[in-house]
Amino acid sequence: MHNEIDILPIEGTDYVELYVSNAKQAAYFYILTMGFSPLAYGGLETGWTDKESYVISQDKVRLVLTSPLTPHHVIGDHISRHGDSVKAIALRVPDTQAAYDGTLSRGAISFSEPTRTEDKHGHVVQAGIHTYGETVHIFIERRNYNGIFLPGYQPWNPPIQSTPVGLRHIDHMVGNVGWNEMNTWTSFYEEVMGFKQIISFDDKDISTEYTALMSKVMSNGNGRIKFPINEPAEGKKKSQVEEYLHFHDGPGVQHIAVATDDIVETISQLQDRGIEFLMVPDTYYDHLKQRVGVIDEDIQELKKLGILVDRDDEGYLLQIFTKPIGSRPTLFFEIIQRKGATSFGKGNFRALFEAIEREQELRGTLT
Ligand code: FE2
Repeated sequence: MHNEIDILPIEGTDYVELYVSNAKQAAYFYILTMGFSPLAYGGLETGWTDKESYVISQDKVRLVLTSPLTPHHVIGDHISRHGDSVKAIALRVPDTQAAYDGTLSRGAISFSEPTRTEDKHGHVVQAGIHTYGETVHIFIERRNYNGIFLPGYQPWNPPIQSTPVGLRHIDHMVGNVGWNEMNTWTSFYEEVMGFKQIISFDDKDISTEYTALMSKVMSNGNGRIKFPINEPAEGKKKSQVEEYLHFHDGPGVQHIAVATDDIVETISQLQDRGIEFLMVPDTYYDHLKQRVGVIDEDIQELKKLGILVDRDDEGYLLQIFTKPIGSRPTLFFEIIQRKGATSFGKGNFRALFEAIEREQELRGTLT
């Protein structure tokens, strides 16, 4: 890699913005159930007239929850169409103008032109481009800024308390795209964003008796950003990706995977606070030791919490998936702990997708 020029240097995920119907209540939900801390607020009190945003954080994970304050608002239209969903994946870059000009010259479509905003804490430069569906990437250059979040925001100190559950940083974010669109979007990440494909799964890897999907994992130059892209594949019944495309009304972010250093503690905390997870049958654990070999964790404890394990050439990983986080069966979270493994849990796909099918069955969408 060191001989290649990274055409789009990215320092990391800066924040993820969700458009939600009630940002204040959503912020309370994430704080009280997932251990986020209140960070910043922008709205009427900070001089905005038509929307408000609450920013919450846990270690390096930052979520921005935004709602419109007026009728017939573009954000309201977005929520009406997609439900509460991810609008923006913001990527921190050393040079926003260069990132914007470069990606546009390679075929990206502009969402917002480079804009410099400032307050007494310095300045930031932001610009945006479109990706799949109505999702966008915001480039953000903030080396000359030391305020709480961004110009336009003030510290937010609501009278509630929560303690972190050990969420550390975003490991990957998955996009669901439409039939035959996976290659269009992997090409976009390759050609426009300078990413490389690191893994590919076909429908033989990811299928159950009833449903199937395909996936390719794209990673940026320094490997910090990983975006798996899923598309549906033919099966006897409607797959989870098709269900997503129906309820989200098109392509969008399917899940946000967040890393922890102690998944047993993190999941115990999340379950105590009311987060619901997909559970696999107890039989999953019967042959676990044969499949993954020796691991540090107590298998009975993993079984109690429903945590899954997979091994690759480099080590193993532990992972678990929440049920959909909002009203629509669309966006969910994954919690992942990597112990050397750099893969995505291929050995768990079947057990997991059967668990998802049981949920689809209950929703009447496995048809
Ligand atoms: Fe994942």
